[in-house]
Amino acid sequence: MAETQPSPLEATLAYAEEFHTEDEVLRTARHRAAEVGAPPILPGAGAALCFLATAVNARAVVEIGTGCGVSGLWLLRGMRQDGTLTSVDVEPEHQRLARQSFAQAGFSGGRTRLIAGRALDVLPRLSDGGYDLVFCDGAKHEYADYLAEAIRLLRVGGIVVFDGALGNHRVADPVRRDPDTVAVRELGKLVRSDERLRPLMIPLGDGVLAAVRLSD
Ligand SMILES: C[S@@+](CC[C@H](N)C(=O)[O-])C[C@H]1O[C@@H](n2cnc3c(N)ncnc32)[C@H](O)[C@@H]1O
Repeated sequence: MAETQPSPLEATLAYAEEFHTEDEVLRTARHRAAEVGAPPILPGAGAALCFLATAVNARAVVEIGTGCGVSGLWLLRGMRQDGTLTSVDVEPEHQRLARQSFAQAGFSGGRTRLIAGRALDVLPRLSDGGYDLVFCDGAKHEYADYLAEAIRLLRVGGIVVFDGALGNHRVADPVRRDPDTVAVRELGKLVRSDERLRPLMIPLGDGVLAAVRLSD
């Protein structure tokens, strides 16, 4: 049977996704993630995170969903050298593997603060306005709650970022009504309608929704 050629749109999206490549440390972290079932962000989304962390000269970043550290590595590589990544995950085993990835990449233990717990229990303990970037990649049904927390945590000019904003091609398809897809669609509406935010949808990875925190 003849192989089907990718459509021009598929080829363009693949070109954009493959524009950014990963090194051995990231590939190893990705392998660890596959072994324990903590799906990591795709390279294009990682590059977007690194870019945004660099653009805001991030010193303090919060991450929800450490996984095995793929997104954390991309974030740390974009952050200032004196920056700290505070990362929350409900699975201590995922964080143990993430710690290995960070060490392998040469980041000292002082660059990361890994907190084991449920995001909505931990986030309220973090300081208002104390962060340059908040990255959300935990439970999709909690995304609206993460947004509320992120707006509180961000300084003016800081950025909130969500992975999975296109939800494996489901979010754009109105026929899809599963709870995670509905939650991500609702998040999009919330971000777009919030006058405190300036949003950007980036069709890299599984969709990266970012928004700058404007002044009150
Ligand atoms: C998609 S994976 C994160 C992948 C990671 N960001 C990366 O790119 O390597 C989602 C992670 O969120 C964690 N998680 C799920 N629900 C959570 C919650 N309510 N609070 C904190 N972490 C949660 C899971 O244990 C899992 O490690």
